[in-house]
Amino acid sequence: MRRALCPGTFDPVTSGHLDIIVRAAGLFDDVVVGVALSPEKGGGPLFSIEERVGFISDAVSHLPNVTVQPFDTLLVDFAQKMDARVIIKGLRAVTDFEHEFQMAQLNFRLNEGIETMFIMSIPEFAYLSSSAVKEIARHGGSVQGLVPDAVCEALAAR
Ligand code: PNS
Repeated sequence: MRRALCPGTFDPVTSGHLDIIVRAAGLFDDVVVGVALSPEKGGGPLFSIEERVGFISDAVSHLPNVTVQPFDTLLVDFAQKMDARVIIKGLRAVTDFEHEFQMAQLNFRLNEGIETMFIMSIPEFAYLSSSAVKEIARHGGSVQGLVPDAVCEALAAR
């Protein structure tokens, strides 16, 4: 069975992330979405690990070959544990490339049995990021369509 791992912090998941997950689910037998605890990121995530896993689980409930799991280890160790030989990352623009290139090289150095593959964002979501969504919401702007409805509501509640 060909299993892929789609990792991220997903604070919160966006329509761009979901597009990559759906496309990966069409290419592989099975996809595990790995939600990193990432306590160090940007002063700490806005949403708890349970909330982030929950938002994605609800949004992918129609995809029978996708599961969502939290992790708090090295990415390659989690991939190995999940028996996934491929890590899928989304690439939005050239600005993503340098960071993703570094992570792919380091992950290969840590475990040569695991390949990183990239799926290009569709143009509609090439500008979209979790941090932009949070900033728009913080200032009272609409993020409808950029994130699942449940995330819209949760952001408004904060
Ligand atoms: O959505 P993000 O925040 O860009 O995802 C980054 C993520 C979670 C994929 C990355 O931080 C990660 O792999 N974290 C796990 C710890 C790890 O393995 N770090 C070394 C990567 S070179």
